[in-house]
Amino acid sequence: MSTLATVPALQPARLEETLLRFAALSEPGPGVSRLAYTRLERQAHDLFASLLADLGIASYTDAAGNTIGELAPDAEPRPGAIGTGSHLDSVPHGGAYDGTVGVVAALAVAAAASAGRPRHRPWRFVAFAAEEGARFGQACNGSRIVAGLTGAADLRQLTDRTGTTMAAAMTECGLAPERVETARWDPRDWRAFVELHVEQGTVLEHRRVPVGVVDTVSGSTRLRVCLTGVASHTGGTPMDNRRDALAAAAECVLDCERLAVAATDVNTRITVGALTVEPGAITIIPGRVVFTVDVRETDYGRQRAAAHAVGQRCRTVAARRGVDVEVEELADTPPVSLSREVAAAARAAATALGLPAEVLSSGASHDTQQISRLMPAGIVFVPSRGGLSHSPGEFSTADQVAAGAAVLLETMYRLDATA
Ligand code: GLV
Ligand code: MN
Ligand code: MN
Repeated sequence: MSTLATVPALQPARLEETLLRFAALSEPGPGVSRLAYTRLERQAHDLFASLLADLGIASYTDAAGNTIGELAPDAEPRPGAIGTGSHLDSVPHGGAYDGTVGVVAALAVAAAASAGRPRHRPWRFVAFAAEEGARFGQACNGSRIVAGLTGAADLRQLTDRTGTTMAAAMTECGLAPERVETARWDPRDWRAFVELHVEQGTVLEHRRVPVGVVDTVSGSTRLRVCLTGVASHTGGTPMDNRRDALAAAAECVLDCERLAVAATDVNTRITVGALTVEPGAITIIPGRVVFTVDVRETDYGRQRAAAHAVGQRCRTVAARRGVDVEVEELADTPPVSLSREVAAAARAAATALGLPAEVLSSGASHDTQQISRLMPAGIVFVPSRGGLSHSPGEFSTADQVAAGAAVLLETMYRLDATA
């Protein structure tokens, strides 16, 4: 690699040490559990702010819980900031890399830039709040709020599995859900945004390429399906006189899988990730089952069609089994094409550093997907070992993260230099 390899902030050991500091902020148990709008997520934001402060960079946390610091330009200032960052919340028993890599790289970029080449534009470093949809169904809440896609009324509708609304969870954390409109970003104040993230797939690993440049981010339609049968005695009730909600759900789950598997030449991914059975006892035929469905696609028409087909299949199964069904849409995020300009800057940055780069799409959602509605925006990936993510087994080597952070820094300089 070029001279960037000698920048202290980009040293693999430094990046790893910071990753470990964030990873320590977790509920007990395997992996990292730091759910959206919890005390731990707020502690991670406080750590981000204090690491920025160590670099002499002031930051603030907005009404939505996003934390943002800014480094002023130091040569021939131009308007329009260049931003970078990612999220600090995790899924339950997730990994130490999803989101955090982008925040740690943002800190490394901040350190390298404050002692580096002249910059013409403000550089902003962002830790987004509540990116994971794991708690409230809807993903990318902090970035959706700054993009004006989610407002105060929506926060009172979204609930977690205990019935706590997102608004209540935010208030509990000292945030201001009723004032989230004040967190909106003005696109005129920005030039471009670029996020570093782990791939969460196997393309880079299989091709032995250290850098991915994302062209498209999949959309996600999220459903909650509720099947209501009749709870009754497992011994007393004959097999031909049952309305078993779990047996119906089992068929629905397999139908979801079949729908996605049948879509061979496209990027349709359909997953039932959570399922609850009531009353949930060995001697009771399940009377009620609620499960979630996550439909991901890189084409919005196919995404909507697949979500519609899931609902139809569930209704067909329920009717045949004499079970009532309700299908509710929890969230719907369309796929986006990211900026070609930012992608070109990232590819040029990788080339300048002697790092091969591959263009690929993202199956996962990202904050930059929302930010791309406001300004040219792009995502750079580093490899994920075995493609594992949303799992304690999530892993990228410190060298891989460092290579990604170096590409991020160089991309920022290239965007900074644009008209
Ligand atoms: C965010 O990690 C997602 O669910 O894609
Ligand atoms: Mn992520
Ligand atoms: Mn994630």
